[in-house]
Parts: sequence; structure tokens; C-alpha cells
Amino acid sequence: MNDVQKRIERSGTVRIGDRTVHRMSFGAMRLAGKDVWGPPADRANAVRVARRAVELGVNHIDTADSYAFGVTEGILREALHPYPDDLLIATKAGQAQVRPGVWEPLGRPAYLRQQCEASLRRLGRERIDLFYLHRVDPQVPFDEQIGTMRELQDEGKIAHFGLSGVTVDQIEAARRIIDVAAVQNMFNVAARVGEDVLDHCERERIPFVAWFPIMSGELARADHLVADVAADLNATPAQIALAWLLARSPVICPIPGTSSIAHLEENVAASTLRLADEHLSRLASLQSTDDELAALAAVGSAPKS
Ligand SMILES: NC(=O)c1ccc[n+]([C@@H]2O[C@H](COP(=O)([O-])OP(=O)(O)OC[C@H]3O[C@@H](n4cnc5c(N)ncnc54)[C@H](OP(=O)(O)O)[C@@H]3O)[C@@H](O)[C@H]2O)c1
Repeated sequence: MNDVQKRIERSGTVRIGDRTVHRMSFGAMRLAGKDVWGPPADRANAVRVARRAVELGVNHIDTADSYAFGVTEGILREALHPYPDDLLIATKAGQAQVRPGVWEPLGRPAYLRQQCEASLRRLGRERIDLFYLHRVDPQVPFDEQIGTMRELQDEGKIAHFGLSGVTVDQIEAARRIIDVAAVQNMFNVAARVGEDVLDHCERERIPFVAWFPIMSGELARADHLVADVAADLNATPAQIALAWLLARSPVICPIPGTSSIAHLEENVAASTLRLADEHLSRLASLQSTDDELAALAAVGSAPKS
């Protein structure tokens, strides 16, 4: 392990199923093009970003079938196959992208199966390390969606199963059918939504994968309250947002997404930052209004690029 990789060690580790990964992770969605709808303008750059993430010691990468119709899975394969033994790639099925940046739950068993097969082929794997149900589809019986995931696991197509965008009740209902190796919900310092889910994951020792950790770049703004704390620590606002997540709970894995090597390096370097009590109490006053949270909940089904 080189000096750069030692930085990510400082973020700590979590167990996802039978795998141990660094908590500071990487979200691949931003490797796609505008609105996560098509290929990136500069594919070679996207490949370089993915490779750099692994060079920096990232060993947990998040993607989904619906990110530009598999484009990000293809980029990960081009960049990283044959994959390092310690790299866990998580992907998801259960949402269809119907227009640029607009997702709808689609949890019919036939679709989940098809998307699992498509992800296996695009990633060039015989088994998916971690396969999420991207959203619970309210139009399909819950047990059918989870039962399909259990079948895929029994058939050896997925190693571990995760849930995304869920409540505590949904986690517990799913656990009656299948082990839940990770939960992935929206969470950041300004949008502490669903803290009951985080508390539950902490009690049950389920890794909580925080998507939207920099609030789509919003928390990296120089005029944000996070920037005041950043100035004190000679850090960047994005780094403070990530350090806050690491400090908030030992089960949190942030998955910041970026298409920039400079931002990627900055984000991974946040693994070494430690926030003092004084910084944490200043950040505690940050909370989005109910209206802002409602808008963010809508983003949950329609991430913007
Ligand atoms: N489970 C779900 O429903 C769900 C939904 C959405 C996303 N996700 C996952 O979560 C990951 C992260 O979510 P996200 O991409 O929506 O939000 P995010 O990580 O909070 O924000 C990403 C945005 O912030 C910018 N950024 C990143 N690092 C920066 C830095 N150091 N300084 C300034 N700007 C920076 C990026 O732009 P640049 O490219 O210019 O750096 C990008 O536009 C995704 O990649 C995806 O894997 C999951």
C-alpha cells in the first residue's frame, strides 16, 4: 500500500456481507453524460477517473443498470476489468429511466431478472457482488420483488443484496426473506432525512451507504455554512461534508460522485479529516427546510446531473 492509499484507510472500514471495504467509497453515476441519459462527452476521462479511484484505494464502487442505460457499468468494465480481488462493485435494478433525469420504480420480477442478466454481461462478471433493489415498486407486491432477489441469490447470480430508498419497516420486512447486506439512502449534513433508518442500521450493524453526500455539488459552494468550517480546517467545503458523514456514524459509507480527477482526489483525501466537537456543533445548525427536503425527496427518484 502506498502513501496515497494510506489516506483512505483513515476513513475506516465496514463489512458488506463477507467483504471488508473502506468507508470512503465512489459513486459512478457522474461518469455518465448529461442528466445521466447518455455517454459522457469524454469517455477516456471517465475511464481515467474510475482507474484513479482504485489507485487511491477505493474498493467499493456504486453504479446501477439505469445510469444512462448501463453506460456507467460499461465504463467500469473498460477501466477496471479484470477487477482487483478486493474491489466490490455494487449495482442496482428496479428503476427505469423514462426521460432524461427522470426515474420510475419498476420492480416486476421479469424486469429485475432481465436487469440482473444485463448488469452481469455489462460488468463482465459471473456474479454481482452487491445487488440493490433501487426502489420498492408500490405497484408490485413487496414479497415478489424481494423474493426475486432471493431467487437470484440462490441461483448464484448475486452475492449480496441491498435496499435503496427504504424505511425501517421495509428493511425488516425484507430481512424475513433475505439478508440485507447494505442500505442505501439519501443523507448528508444538510439533509439528514430518515435518521431513524440510520439509527436502525447502526443498531443492526448494516452498512448505510449515503448517496447525495455533497448534495449534488451544493455543499461544495464557497458561500455555504460548510465553507466556514472548511476555512478553519484548511479543507474544502466538499471535504467537510464528507468528513461529517464519516463522523456521524461508523456504519456510513459516503459514495461521492464526480467526473473530475481533482474532485475525486479531494474527496478521498477527506478520509483523513477529523472534525472537533466545536465544528460538529456549528454544522448541527445546518438543516434544510421542509420545502427543501420535499424537493430533495423528489430528487430521490430523479437525480440531476
Ligand atoms: N440509490 C439512489 O437512489 C441513488 C440516487 C442518486 C445517486 N446515487 C449514487 O450516489 C452517488 C452520489 O450521488 P450524486 O452524484 O447524486 O451526489 P453527490 O455525490 O453529492 O454530488 C455529485 C456532484 O457534486 C460534484 N462534486 C463532487 N465532488 C466535488 C468536489 N470535491 N468539489 C465540487 N464539486 C464536487 C460533482 O461534479 P463534478 O463531476 O464536476 O465533480 C457532481 O455533480 C452517485 O454516483 C450514485 O452512485 C444513488
